[in-house]
Amino acid sequence: MPVPPLAPSAVAPDGTRVFSLTAQEGTTQFLDGVDTPTWGFDGDLLGPTLRASRGEQVAVQVRNELPEPTSVHWHGMHLPAAMDGGPHQEVEPGATWRPTWRVDQPAATLWYHPHPHGRTEEHVYKGLAGFFLLDDPDAPDVGLPQEYGVDDVPVVVQDRDVAADGTLTTERAEVGILGSVVTANGVRGAHVPVTTEHVRLRLLNGSTARTYAFGFADDRTFTQVASDGGLLEAPVPTTRVQLSPGERAEVVVAMAPGERVRLRSFRPDLGRIAAGFAAGANDEFDVLELRAAATLEPSPEVAGALTALEPLRAEDATVTRTFTVSGREINGRRMAMDRIDATVERGATEVWEVRNLDLVPHNLHVHDVQFRVADIDGEAPPPPLAGAKDTVYLEPQRTYRLVMRFDDYADPDTPYMVHCHLLLHEDEGLMAQFVVVEPGDEAARVPGSGAGH
Ligand code: C2O
Ligand code: CU
Repeated sequence: MPVPPLAPSAVAPDGTRVFSLTAQEGTTQFLDGVDTPTWGFDGDLLGPTLRASRGEQVAVQVRNELPEPTSVHWHGMHLPAAMDGGPHQEVEPGATWRPTWRVDQPAATLWYHPHPHGRTEEHVYKGLAGFFLLDDPDAPDVGLPQEYGVDDVPVVVQDRDVAADGTLTTERAEVGILGSVVTANGVRGAHVPVTTEHVRLRLLNGSTARTYAFGFADDRTFTQVASDGGLLEAPVPTTRVQLSPGERAEVVVAMAPGERVRLRSFRPDLGRIAAGFAAGANDEFDVLELRAAATLEPSPEVAGALTALEPLRAEDATVTRTFTVSGREINGRRMAMDRIDATVERGATEVWEVRNLDLVPHNLHVHDVQFRVADIDGEAPPPPLAGAKDTVYLEPQRTYRLVMRFDDYADPDTPYMVHCHLLLHEDEGLMAQFVVVEPGDEAARVPGSGAGH
């Protein structure tokens, strides 16, 4: 399995770490000997891994060499709305966009992908996506493997439909494209050489529509150590990790010398979905095979306590907003670029109560923040959903109470997005816009924008 290279960076005189990324056209062989036209950053498919530390000022020179506008969104990053790379920051062909911000959040596995209005599914499906890893030099060592590409391996899982002539096809189910060509870092039938007793996989569901339930062919227990926004408070032993599009999980797998084991996606638990919907969404796939060397280097034991998450409690919220998700609408409306749907005060802790009214899957991604799932239909979330999250699967006809705090970056003129990360749904309107303003500033508040105080 190819491991995306670490992106080179240069430190400018003012201390800013500067990366560059070029979106370009290329070709990839998903089927042996057959070329498929694809898009990538600095290559034919996917992109290099950006990596930076908490406290660093970073900048990315994003150059668009595609024949149409695109954008690059830093999924999971806490940053000013004007740097966010959403539909309001599209980059014209031939142009360069240079967002800059200070990394100010815990270590985490984040990612980047295009977000042009109405065309996100197409741009991601063609291959534009990459990892953005954040480190925290002040965090204690908790025994996690950390040698990039050796025992700490990013894996983006995606599915596509590829015709015999190599064309990417776009036949869509209700949720979007459910393809049968499942790749890990862009290749089918991937295998990963393992040289250490423990291997850490940073799993990203980079699919446009499909939900995966990862586990091993022998049903072994492994350990989930992180969710979207960073470490869980304690490791969670498990046999399955389910990720809907956009979600991440870091897992640690113990290996014996010489053994081989396949990472699979089993049938996901999608909740109470409509009969007839399941076709295609419940397929099972092999994702990759771990192949251990005859002798393995020792790995440290994973600590019993990984981090202490900042308290973020529903009781501390001063504002509650309700969001219903249905069809291609949030609260009965489709996305409009010139309508602000909610105005949030900087510093506020809010509860967003989100209900999937449908009998089909949706999920919800909120830009700028890492939220906590307070409860699902009034019950505490299971341990893997109790950590920092920016994207959460919405089971049909259940209510998720999400708690989040908007610490920084008031800008009444530039909205952040909240949307379904099933990218067809997002493109067709299941997205809303919110702005963060200084406390007391009503400037951007428009009639009907959430509950207010
Ligand atoms: Cu991963 Cu608004 O996107
Ligand atoms: Cu949806």
